[in-house]
Amino acid sequence: MSSLDVTSVADISVEPGTLPEKMTAWVIRQDREGEPVDAFQLEEIEVPEPGPFEVTVRVMAAGVNYNNVWAALGQPVSVFRYHPEEDHHIGGSDASGIVWKVGTGVTRWAPGDEVIIHCNQASYEDVEVHGLDPMAAPSQKIWGYETSWGSFAQFTKVQAQQLIPKPRNLTWEEAASYGLVYFTAYRMLVDQCELKAGDKVLIWGAAGGLGVFAVQLCAAAGAECVGVVSSKEKGDLVMQLGATGYIDRNEFKGMMRKGGESPEQEKERFGESRRFAKAVKEILGDAPDIVFEHVGKATFPTSVFVVKPFGKVVICAGTTGFDLDFDVRYLWMRQKQIIGSHFANAYECTKANELIEQGRIRPVLWRTMGFDGVAEAHQLMRDNKHLGKIAILVGAEGAGLGRTEDGPGAIKAEVGA
Ligand SMILES: NC(=O)c1ccc[n+]([C@@H]2O[C@H](COP(=O)([O-])OP(=O)(O)OC[C@H]3O[C@@H](n4cnc5c(N)ncnc54)[C@H](OP(=O)(O)O)[C@@H]3O)[C@@H](O)[C@H]2O)c1
Repeated sequence: MSSLDVTSVADISVEPGTLPEKMTAWVIRQDREGEPVDAFQLEEIEVPEPGPFEVTVRVMAAGVNYNNVWAALGQPVSVFRYHPEEDHHIGGSDASGIVWKVGTGVTRWAPGDEVIIHCNQASYEDVEVHGLDPMAAPSQKIWGYETSWGSFAQFTKVQAQQLIPKPRNLTWEEAASYGLVYFTAYRMLVDQCELKAGDKVLIWGAAGGLGVFAVQLCAAAGAECVGVVSSKEKGDLVMQLGATGYIDRNEFKGMMRKGGESPEQEKERFGESRRFAKAVKEILGDAPDIVFEHVGKATFPTSVFVVKPFGKVVICAGTTGFDLDFDVRYLWMRQKQIIGSHFANAYECTKANELIEQGRIRPVLWRTMGFDGVAEAHQLMRDNKHLGKIAILVGAEGAGLGRTEDGPGAIKAEVGA
């Protein structure tokens, strides 16, 4: 770590409307891509001026996501390929903060406004933005992953359309913790799969970032779900969030696809998938209508097999590998669907956020760390030692600040993983 003083990141010498020249930021550079603890370094960087329809926000707290584990590792591709115009990568795709300076053309927001930030960017000039979906735009990028100027810094630069009013019933760290994963899970279940009361859902990684929101969305919709986890503590968490039951994946180790197996090994693995499908049915009373996928290579053949005829496997990632294979007979003979999904549009983010404002969906915070914890937080995530979400305090002087209205706040996932 560099010798920059991180104890003063909450001190700002200028009023809203004026930007200082420099700021402290956690920066990844291409020549040090690797394990998060090494790739992230503290640096002093110029503060970005907002361009037309852009806003510079003072970050009060930031949320940690798996995407910047990938950014640190430089895998599957280096993020510098996405933003060659910048030789630094300031990651961070979730934040709560205060609008500090607005660019020309911005009328909806003013310095002093308290906001959270959704992470989808697209050019106003792309026609897809005006009729299809901003996620379909050729210019579409995830802020703080495919762009620099993310939230692990005192200030961040975003498009004005990324701003959403901060829920008043949440602290800075709670408000910063959920956007990317929750809005992704919302699109996957609510829009892509048209989740409804009575549906049965299988959720992989149910105590992880995406999973804790998938479970809550099922409970809020009146759907039943079974969460897959890797420990009793994680199982207890998903039950607390409203799951019908949970399965410890350690009891089905043989089901995970590694690749390169012999036909005999494939057969054995398939037997384990059948045993797993039976366990799922025992909990839900039937096969799932929807499988919520992001694990990828290890679990995908099981997902396609286990989902009900005419059911949907919705997938947004391949954490264990992108080369998926599965027995396609189970797909066509039983008329199942595989649906790819990626983040969410601004409308979905806003609708999803209303459920947070109403206290019907709650952030799930495992740990709040100081600004010095950015690299360590990503390493914990890389090593799968976390539950729910990790938040980072940036402008907030301590935890528990920023709430201006009563509300249930975040669920604290207090057990160790
Ligand atoms: N496309 C998008 O818009 C989008 C949005 C958000 C996230 N993502 C991606 O989705 C993935 C998950 O994100 P996240 O925030 O939920 O991460 P996370 O908090 O690390 O949760 C993932 C969960 O997956 C489970 N898992 C890990 N390895 C597994 C394996 N071999 N088999 C079965 N389960 C396994 C773990 O739970 P257990 O150990 O308890 O089983 C873990 O809690 C990441 O790759 C992320 O980059 C994509």
